[in-house]
Amino acid sequence: MSKGGSLMMMAAALVVGCGSDERPGMSTTVPMVQAGAQAPAPQAQATATQTATMPVGIAESPPAASQPTASDAAQLAETPVSDPGIELPSADESGAMAQSTLPCNVATIMTGRCGQCHGASTVGGAPMSLTTLEDFHKPSYSDPARLVYELVQERINDEARPMPPGSLMPDPDLSVLNTWLGAGAKSGTVADANCPAAEAVPTIEMEPETARDPNEECFELRMHGAQSPGDTSEYTIESGEYYNCFYYKVPWDKPVEGTRFGNAFENEALLHHWLLYTTNSTAGGTFERCTGSHIGDNSQLLAGWAVGGRDVEMPPQAGFELPPPGSHVLVEWHLFNTTGRSVGDSSGIQVCTIPKGTREHTATMATLGTEDFNGFLGMPPGVESTFSGTCRPSRQGMNAGDPIHIFTFLPHMHKLGRSMRSVVNRGGGATEEVFNKPFDFNQQIHYEVAVDLFPGDTITSTCTFFNNTGASVAYGPSSEQEMCYQFAISYPAGALKNGAFGLNGATNNCW
Ligand code: HEC
Repeated sequence: MSKGGSLMMMAAALVVGCGSDERPGMSTTVPMVQAGAQAPAPQAQATATQTATMPVGIAESPPAASQPTASDAAQLAETPVSDPGIELPSADESGAMAQSTLPCNVATIMTGRCGQCHGASTVGGAPMSLTTLEDFHKPSYSDPARLVYELVQERINDEARPMPPGSLMPDPDLSVLNTWLGAGAKSGTVADANCPAAEAVPTIEMEPETARDPNEECFELRMHGAQSPGDTSEYTIESGEYYNCFYYKVPWDKPVEGTRFGNAFENEALLHHWLLYTTNSTAGGTFERCTGSHIGDNSQLLAGWAVGGRDVEMPPQAGFELPPPGSHVLVEWHLFNTTGRSVGDSSGIQVCTIPKGTREHTATMATLGTEDFNGFLGMPPGVESTFSGTCRPSRQGMNAGDPIHIFTFLPHMHKLGRSMRSVVNRGGGATEEVFNKPFDFNQQIHYEVAVDLFPGDTITSTCTFFNNTGASVAYGPSSEQEMCYQFAISYPAGALKNGAFGLNGATNNCW
């Protein structure tokens, strides 16, 4: 729990528990990378297009050098392999040693559905790579008595804890993997070694931002090890999964607005997400364990990143409203260290700024949706449920006839989330669907939209869930609980929020 204990906080704790169990995909800024087998679901929506500019899109990186090479094969051949499941192909007629390799159809699925987290270098707490045949025949992380491929078979069929996280893969892919795993995860043929998909394991490279022009200045808020302002010693990421919140006095000394939010990461494999919030805490330089709730902090979400995400950039006509000099922010890190030991790290987030008022508009984020899933009852097991929240904007500080312009939506639910829909209810009685997208916990992305809300208009956001667990699920920050947030970035600043109370502790809600 972060600073500022209160009765409200206790009320929230009752509802949300003390979960700090957010799992892969949590993000407000996550354009997801899915190469190969998994193309994004077809999007048929006139006003919303998945953007390639605002959430800097797909990771483009050179093919990872992790596939079995001839020398790997030679090494495999020389090393006695204890697991009889690996059948090393024997020398062909020319005498050349064939590679020990994944069958091509398996490699294609691995690349597309798993490679983003279980690539040659892992990210976000994924405990192992799944790129070579050898990877599948090592002892597993959570149960060393069993081999990785045995756990793979278990998890890809486990509806409650599926891999990839979110929901089971479609049947054709599942059946390819089940056939191969069921037969002992054996090597492919010589021909499979030339499988093109196997070379394209995507890794997500994130270059720290540098200022683009003399007016832009990029600041870093890094993790650090001592409880004092200005400390630059390494923070120790403990083994396990937890949230840690770092408090900072903002590093700018004049009024600024945000142009970009970036990442300066060290041990990316241990970082699951970060969220940047305003806070009324003045304990700059300190840090503490926390949960995903900042109730009592008077917090507003400013930006975020999660596994698979890239840096975020504002459109040229808008700067993002940032807190004034002298105020404080907090960075919530979700850390997920499966190395089994403590690791020193100075990873940081970046905020790039320009002087306030440089751009035509000032944008802010507001949270639409709902936190009410039948109150404490939650959504019943075994069925589809929908929950809606309607936002009547405050239109605070606006000219009477002007529209509020929403330019980005970032739907956020947890693992049971299936789709998000937003409908504008025009003051005159008409309704207009402005957003309708399938939702995948593992593929949380920004959408660029163009929605104008005029005086008298409201907007209803509806989340559809399928509760495939055996129990009711209510609102909460743990990924075993649910959320229904449609984050909306819009201008003019502050006009969309209406101050609705939220268990999230934020003051920029609208429902
Ligand atoms: C978005 C990131 C992500 C993707 C994509 C993903 N995983 Fe995972 N995987 C994780 C994380 C994080 C963990 C550790 C937490 C857990 O066990 O749920 C994990 C754990 C596992 C484990 C358990 C390992 C152990 O020792 O307990 C298996 C098996 C696994 N993943 C297989 C797969 C397979 C197969 C795919 C693709 C079909 C896949 N994963 C896709 C992130 C991912």
